[in-house]
Amino acid sequence: MSVVDLIERKRNGGRLEAGELAAMMRDYAAGAIPDYQMSAFAMAVYFRGMDDVEIEALTTAMLESGRMLELGHLGLPRVDKHSTGGVGDKVSLILAPLVACCGIAVPMMSGRGLGHTGGTLDKLESIPGFRTRLTLEETAAQLQRLGVAMIGQTAEIAPADRKFYALRDATATVEAIPLISASIMSKKLAEGLTGLVLDVKTGAGAFMTRLEDSLTLAKTMIALGERRGCPTVALLTDMDTPLGDACGNALEVEESVACLRGKGPADLREVTLALATEMLLVGGVSEDVADARARATRALDSGAALEKFRALVAAQGGDARVVDDPHAVLPQAPVVKPVLATKAGVVQRVEPRVIGRAIIGLGGGRTKVDDVVDPAVGVVLHVKPGARVEAGQPLATIHAASESARQEAEYALRQAIPLGTGTPSRRPLISHRIT
Ligand code: URA
Repeated sequence: MSVVDLIERKRNGGRLEAGELAAMMRDYAAGAIPDYQMSAFAMAVYFRGMDDVEIEALTTAMLESGRMLELGHLGLPRVDKHSTGGVGDKVSLILAPLVACCGIAVPMMSGRGLGHTGGTLDKLESIPGFRTRLTLEETAAQLQRLGVAMIGQTAEIAPADRKFYALRDATATVEAIPLISASIMSKKLAEGLTGLVLDVKTGAGAFMTRLEDSLTLAKTMIALGERRGCPTVALLTDMDTPLGDACGNALEVEESVACLRGKGPADLREVTLALATEMLLVGGVSEDVADARARATRALDSGAALEKFRALVAAQGGDARVVDDPHAVLPQAPVVKPVLATKAGVVQRVEPRVIGRAIIGLGGGRTKVDDVVDPAVGVVLHVKPGARVEAGQPLATIHAASESARQEAEYALRQAIPLGTGTPSRRPLISHRIT
């Protein structure tokens, strides 16, 4: 069967067999199928979808295009968390060390920021010296010593997905639930996990802006995890507004350290503790929610998670003094100025997409995979939707590389934070738990 026949069948709404999908992904990874044919295939899936059997076959094909982490020798539950991405989402930096304090190994594999969303690897790399490119062998050894490693997708993990995701990104075919599910789960299943917790973001700044789509995405990924023997749970969390206050790589590390010290914004702490609770439950180290929540809270408030973060930064070559004095260690932008409210009013929205794009404009994000980011720049928000402000009160502080970049960001922020009179309705911070 030729690739053209397979594309045509999918284009016409037909289904592909597991063997056909496996051969297609294998040949694509090997360079035997050109990008233009895979683009047409991705677009056909975007419009025609896939059934559960096809999604599982695609996931397996991408998973088996590479190697898996072998971690059985650790003798510990192995649980990761994956967020579908948003603005200000620095949860992983707090969560991974926190959960590792509770008897669970956390082999956390994350991505880079792309488009309006930030990425954990960029945040970690704003710590001078921090290495996210560990080999699978280095990762396994660090997990044995420390119980936590935070790495990027290596060339050995799901290489077919790596190539296909980059192609989808360039052909407007990312936002297809079967393709997102197979892409995320092929990488997560390659980590050799005993459990997985998904943070599926919903709202204006998420991949999925509609609740129904977030629910479908969560259920599709849970089914894939369960069928491959990896118990998977999802929380649907709000991305109508950025999470926490800091948006921008080094600024988010600073806020994560504050949270690890028991401070920081309440929404960030709450989402982190809720996800930690799920990780302890799915990892089997706690039998009920109350116990899991209490253990996670203790690990955070006792300083144990902070010390684990210090050890993690040191183990991966970073400057561990970031834990004691983040401001002194992290890169700082030369221009730092507040955006002041021009009138009194109630904050109607804090638009994550507009803020994410403003950060790209400041140089702190990417529009192409190989763009270089400025780790120092970003925005610290001082208000949430529903807050009442007076004229002259700061809405946000911009950290910019130049005065002209700051002015552009200020213009964007004024659009992102409209003031009005009514009280805006807000989505719950954590709206659904799906098993
Ligand atoms: N993240 C991924 O890893 N893959 C997708 O397709 C979308 C988000």
